[in-house]
Amino acid sequence: MKVLLIEDEKITRITLTDTLSEEGYQVTACATGTEGLAAFQAERFDVLLTDLRLPVMSGIDILKKAKESRPNCPVIVMTAYASVDTAVQALKLGAYDYLTKPFSPDELLALLNKIKQFKEVITENIRLKKRIKSFENRTLIGRSAVMRHLVSTLKIIAQNDFTVLIQGESGTGKEVAARFLHYHSPRHNKPFIAVNCASIPETLLESELFGHEKGAFTGAGKQHSGYFERAEGGTLFIDDIDDMPLSMQVKLLRFLQERTINRVGGDKEITLDLRIIAATKVDLRELIAQKKFREDLFYRLSIIPLLIPPLRERKEDIPLLLDHFLDKLGDGHKKPRLSKAQLEIMEKYSWPGNVRELENMAGRLLAMPEFDYFIEQLHTQDVQSQPLLAINSGVLNFEEFRGIQPYLQKQEKELIVMAIKKAGQNISDAARLLKIPRSTLRSKMEKLQITDFSGKPN
Ligand SMILES: Nc1ncnc2c1ncn2[C@@H]1O[C@H](COP(=O)(O)OP(=O)(O)OP(=O)(O)O)[C@@H](O)[C@H]1O
Ligand SMILES: [Mg+2]
Repeated sequence: MKVLLIEDEKITRITLTDTLSEEGYQVTACATGTEGLAAFQAERFDVLLTDLRLPVMSGIDILKKAKESRPNCPVIVMTAYASVDTAVQALKLGAYDYLTKPFSPDELLALLNKIKQFKEVITENIRLKKRIKSFENRTLIGRSAVMRHLVSTLKIIAQNDFTVLIQGESGTGKEVAARFLHYHSPRHNKPFIAVNCASIPETLLESELFGHEKGAFTGAGKQHSGYFERAEGGTLFIDDIDDMPLSMQVKLLRFLQERTINRVGGDKEITLDLRIIAATKVDLRELIAQKKFREDLFYRLSIIPLLIPPLRERKEDIPLLLDHFLDKLGDGHKKPRLSKAQLEIMEKYSWPGNVRELENMAGRLLAMPEFDYFIEQLHTQDVQSQPLLAINSGVLNFEEFRGIQPYLQKQEKELIVMAIKKAGQNISDAARLLKIPRSTLRSKMEKLQITDFSGKPN
């Protein structure tokens, strides 16, 4: 450990330096505050040990300055018995501790030892946090057959350098899969850079992706490296590739063929070594048919095509993912327990927002102890979006059927809306058509949340 000692008394300075050096500390000793602070700014010390009463600049001033420039460096102040008040002031200003003169070498050594242990705990903590982060990047939760298959495929293709195209609805985990691939690949110590084509205005896209030279266009004050260069050695994840304009598609194709790029306004070719992973929510083949996506680029990108199925097609993953998110977001708080029936509702729900929607739901469950309501809501939301099932034609799909009650409610609601429309939005006439009293119709409308006449709840 490196200790900076500021002490004006020559004898104390020499004695302390000797004591600490014998114990293996690297000591830099200074006689004045000015000299001490200059040393403190120039080098990284683990501890600052300063006398309080110094000529010119006081120990309190040194402490303030030290805390400003490096708040995490512990400061120990040394003071004569008479100035304990100042010592208290020093503690308030963030000193780690103080020693009252005269003190024994052991007192000082014990204090330094405590700091050393404290530092070790902090370093360990940082190390563990980094490890957890890298593990987070390495996990892809799922026990369904498709997800297990996806995981093993990703692990295999991580070892080579082919371009990968990941397709899947919004929130299915395309970016998670791309990170997983990167962190399992030999490039894992190099950057993983994600860029979303849909979020960058078309006019800026080229310079954002490929960078620009100084003066390439008005406003290009200095040279700028784009996403490609920043991903050098690692992986560039291009999300929403379907949103890439044709002019950029040509440039990407060129990179995939020649592994070189040009910055905007630059004539120098820059050779880069990086892996491309692209993702899309839509079927690129349809875009090819509409001439919005280059076919040659499609084939280059999809050397290895992957499809992540929507969550509703892999319901076995729901309990596992939910548990994962409750742990992740709960941060050690008590985990809400779901009943079997509630879990069933979750498994039956169609999750249009996929895993992201499930993650949000986990957040809501943690935030609200009375979460039954949210789960009930999933049920009704789906019932509302379900098409009327044609029982008479015999096409009722019992797999998707949610029970007789919601089914009848849905039928009833459509019938009422139809009658109201037919009656020109006159409630009394509608009640007559339905052969029920007006008051009954009113209460049914309330219960079924028919607040506007198109049948949609407000
Ligand atoms: N298999 C999984 N394991 C753990 N977390 C997941 C998994 N799939 C998705 N997630 C989580 O769900 C959220 C959405 O995932 P991600 O951003 O990868 O989806 P996406 O397919 O890229 O969505 P979009 O199309 O909207 O860009 C993220 O918070 C992610 O951590
Ligand atoms: Mg994404």
